[in-house]
Amino acid sequence: MKRIAVLTSGGDAPGMNAAIRAVVRKGIYHGLDVFGVERGYEGVINGDFRPMSLHSVAGIIGYGGTMLKTARSEAFKTNGGFSKAMRNLADHRIDTLIVIGGDGSMAGAQKLAQAGVQTMVLPATIDNDMCGTEYTIGFDTALNTVLEAVNKIRDTAASHERVAIVEVMGRSSGHIALMAGLACGAEAIMLPEKPTDIGELCQRLHQSHARGKLYSIIMVAEGAGNGFDIAAQISGKTMYKPHVTVLGYIQRGGAPSAMDNIMGSRMGAMAVDAILADQTNRLVGTSKGELVCVDYDTAFASKRGIDLSLYDLSLTLSI
Ligand code: F6P
Repeated sequence: MKRIAVLTSGGDAPGMNAAIRAVVRKGIYHGLDVFGVERGYEGVINGDFRPMSLHSVAGIIGYGGTMLKTARSEAFKTNGGFSKAMRNLADHRIDTLIVIGGDGSMAGAQKLAQAGVQTMVLPATIDNDMCGTEYTIGFDTALNTVLEAVNKIRDTAASHERVAIVEVMGRSSGHIALMAGLACGAEAIMLPEKPTDIGELCQRLHQSHARGKLYSIIMVAEGAGNGFDIAAQISGKTMYKPHVTVLGYIQRGGAPSAMDNIMGSRMGAMAVDAILADQTNRLVGTSKGELVCVDYDTAFASKRGIDLSLYDLSLTLSI
């Protein structure tokens, strides 16, 4: 009987629990022995393997975070840590390890594959910035969380006629800022992929104020700059005193959206199907809206940028 293990790695993302549940339930349905590994690659190094049952994933689908806990493992990048991980996988007779996480986690899975351990990756990060897939589990929930927060911030910005800067996550990518900015009708969006001229931004604020707009929302991706620095620059050049909200971990937590639970469930099931078909060492992703399985080299070779036509659209719509 095949033995598989599943772990979550890197930043937690809503929908990871649905993916774990799908792997466990679908694996057991097909007669596999399924193990959960706690705290990502740290758990592989430390031998934190536990057998999973149908019941062990009961009730988790409605919750954010990850029932298996997660970590960003520095030890796994060392020769000692990697060898220990290899030994533990062999000792537990794991045929395939399923890794749920982002690009860094996929690099770890590829390294294991190159060393002879079969792996599969499910894409999960709120940033939606992974190679080889159009969608990552957690992005939709994070967007909805930002939208809900901005709707509240807008009430206050409008009541006090203020400029509100909202800084969102995304590391070095602007997917969250772009899509949330479009969804909430932000007056300006600052992206790492499209550097903003602060002078032009200030002019835009003046022009919209002259047209009768008495408040503005500026959506800033963390990779485009620090919200407080940007506020200082704007107040140095204009009469506005922007108020800054850094949304932080609010974006990572919370109950997953229907979309993220559906994607987590479908991707988890597809990973098990790939294992049953001996098609391992692949990322389960989406392409043109369809689920696909791609090998790691192909995945890493296809880094998807943001859609700048949506940036232009948001500017056009927010005049
Ligand atoms: O990758 C998800 C993410 O939330 C990024 O948007 C952010 O830059 C980073 O993780 C923060 O990581 P940490 O878990 O170290 O706070």
